Amino acid sequence: MFIAMNRFKVRPEAVEEFTEIWRSRDSQLSRVPGFVEFQFLKGPEREDHVLFASHTVWRSFDDFANWTKSEHFRAAHKNAGDNKPLYLGPPEFEGFEVVDDVK
Ligand code: HEM
Repeated sequence: MFIAMNRFKVRPEAVEEFTEIWRSRDSQLSRVPGFVEFQFLKGPEREDHVLFASHTVWRSFDDFANWTKSEHFRAAHKNAGDNKPLYLGPPEFEGFEVVDDVK
């Protein structure tokens, strides 16, 4: 399994708008081969931002990589550039191989 996370440092005054963008999006993820699950996470509040992360679980790294090259990915991000004023700096991507999995 492979986990892809993208972290956003959202300006405190933009938290509601940023949350609404994610809640109201037209997600196609459940149709993508190898997609397992998705969570949108709200994390610690700091002085100048609130940390948010998208957390996506994939069957394999290759399934994730194929999604990033797909029409689904392009469609999901077609308006993402418009939202840059809502957060500090660029989003920070991190990918993880699952080493151990307990359920
Ligand atoms: C490889 C890097 C990235 C990953 C893994 C990733 C992950 C995701 C996922 C899983 C979704 C939800 C898609 C859906 O439900 O169909 C999404 C949407 C979104 N992503 Fe990314 N993303 C990446 C790059 C970026 C970048 C560079 C930006 C900012 C410029 C960005 C901003 C957004 C925004 C704002 C949305 C909500 C889309 C909307 O409905 O407007 N992402 N991303």
